[in-house]
Amino acid sequence: MEVYSEKQQIIHAIVALKAKEQTIGMVPTMGALHQGHLQLVKKALEDNDKVVVSIFVNPTQFDNNEDLKKYPRTLESDVTLLKTVSKTNILVYAPTVDDIYEGNTVSQEFDFDGLEFEMEGKFRHGHFDGVGTIVKRFFDIVKPHNAYFGEKDFQQLAIIKKLVDKYNIPVKIVGCKIHRETNGLAMSSRNTRLKPEYKKAAPFIYKTLKTAKEKFGTKSANKVSEWVEKQFAMHDILELEYFIIADTKTLKPVKRKSNKKTYRAFIAVYADDIRLIDNIALN
Ligand code: PAJ
Repeated sequence: MEVYSEKQQIIHAIVALKAKEQTIGMVPTMGALHQGHLQLVKKALEDNDKVVVSIFVNPTQFDNNEDLKKYPRTLESDVTLLKTVSKTNILVYAPTVDDIYEGNTVSQEFDFDGLEFEMEGKFRHGHFDGVGTIVKRFFDIVKPHNAYFGEKDFQQLAIIKKLVDKYNIPVKIVGCKIHRETNGLAMSSRNTRLKPEYKKAAPFIYKTLKTAKEKFGTKSANKVSEWVEKQFAMHDILELEYFIIADTKTLKPVKRKSNKKTYRAFIAVYADDIRLIDNIALN
């Protein structure tokens, strides 16, 4: 499996593959790979001849320097894990900050038609400009036919769809379901940093989402939100940052339910200093 650290090398490799009429899938990641990432890679391998997995902890999408510093960097074991999926059809692109940002580590500013101001946008300042900047660069370099993103970051997925639409980037965006531990906790690279008591407590997040979904069948969004807030107020160690029921298309909080719309519940929780997010389809 080739691991490229310079964009000229990967561009060269891709030109050669495209000359042979091969289709290219891409899975952008920040590494510390787990089964959730691998599920995206497997789907990409089903749909394409070759798959580029990028591994890059993108500084411009972090608003918290400590979080950026502590983000796990495990390139060697990531490559070993990818080899268990395919030894021949995966190309890894693991650039340095300089290779990708060329000495100018700043975000481009985007207008995602308001999607960027909801939920994560409110709590992680500049986050989606950082995500948009890096993903647009990856698409410029790799020029994949298809690119795969998880519903774990549902707002990010919606924003990437908006990005390719607005900039006429010729790539098909494929959304993939959330991969969970058997106890329900959504897999995340951050889970490895959870102290034992928080790891034990964290499945409470999905459990609460599932009950919220049941309640949404008969109760208003406000009533469900109040109930969720109460559950976390009573919890010993998990701290709720937000729980929002939003319209799947606009990501705006629902005011009055309509049968014609689809809704999702979104949650962000602090487990000690580790921020966990999750979401669930409601109808
Ligand atoms: P990262 O958090 O590494 O996630 C990479 C991709 O894997 C994202 O599309 C994310 O939604 C997906 N993913 C993570 N955990 C998942 C799970 N449990 N189930 C399904 N999919 C899951 O998201 C990023 O990196 C970055 O913002 C990136 C897009 C790479 C830009 O830097």
